Amino acid sequence: MFITFEGIDGCGKSTQAKLLEERLRSTIATPIVFVRDPGHTGISESIRAILLDKANTTITARTELLLYSAARAQLVDTVIAPALQSGSIVLADRFTDSTIAYQSFGRGLALDDIRSANTVATGGIVPDCTFFLDVPLHHAKERCMDKSADRIELAGDEFFERVIAGYRALVRSEPQRVQRLDATLEVDVLHEQIWSVVQSVFAPVS
Ligand code: TMP
Repeated sequence: MFITFEGIDGCGKSTQAKLLEERLRSTIATPIVFVRDPGHTGISESIRAILLDKANTTITARTELLLYSAARAQLVDTVIAPALQSGSIVLADRFTDSTIAYQSFGRGLALDDIRSANTVATGGIVPDCTFFLDVPLHHAKERCMDKSADRIELAGDEFFERVIAGYRALVRSEPQRVQRLDATLEVDVLHEQIWSVVQSVFAPVS
């Protein structure tokens, strides 16, 4: 079982991912593996540092795509694939849909190229269920005000409006897998919505 959380920076997905992790841990005995993408493994965290360092102003869109893909390949090969194979539940804070939303809709790279890079990076692993936390840009920006922006967060409002449009296009093209949630709702209300989807998608979780 592989569940991913998606949305623009400041949408609240990391909070919701953690709440679901805690709920699952207290409800079922199945091992839970929680990862963030890019990151989690040593190599992926090193690549993440390059990607988010705002001093790296010369990274091109294609380089960015390949760095995200490299970080993900390492994470999939060494953590996600073995965990799924052994029957664990994997929760991921971001995965391939971020690359579609940010590098294709945001940066303007061809969707086919992104899909190819995603397939190479994942070996074909696709999440069973993806939560897209949809929030207006101004709302997300308010939530991010107390932390200094990283290289991606400095990309500007038009970029993030395109990223949001990209996520909404994904919901339309894969409605079974990608669930859109109103992330302006209270944290607890949103968590209960996520929990009920998890219960309905995965019947044994009760
Ligand atoms: P976060 O893990 O704190 O959300 O930060 C990761 C940043 O990287 C975030 O701005 C989204 C961005 N990102 C991409 O642009 N493409 C990707 O494929 C992934 C996974 C993240």
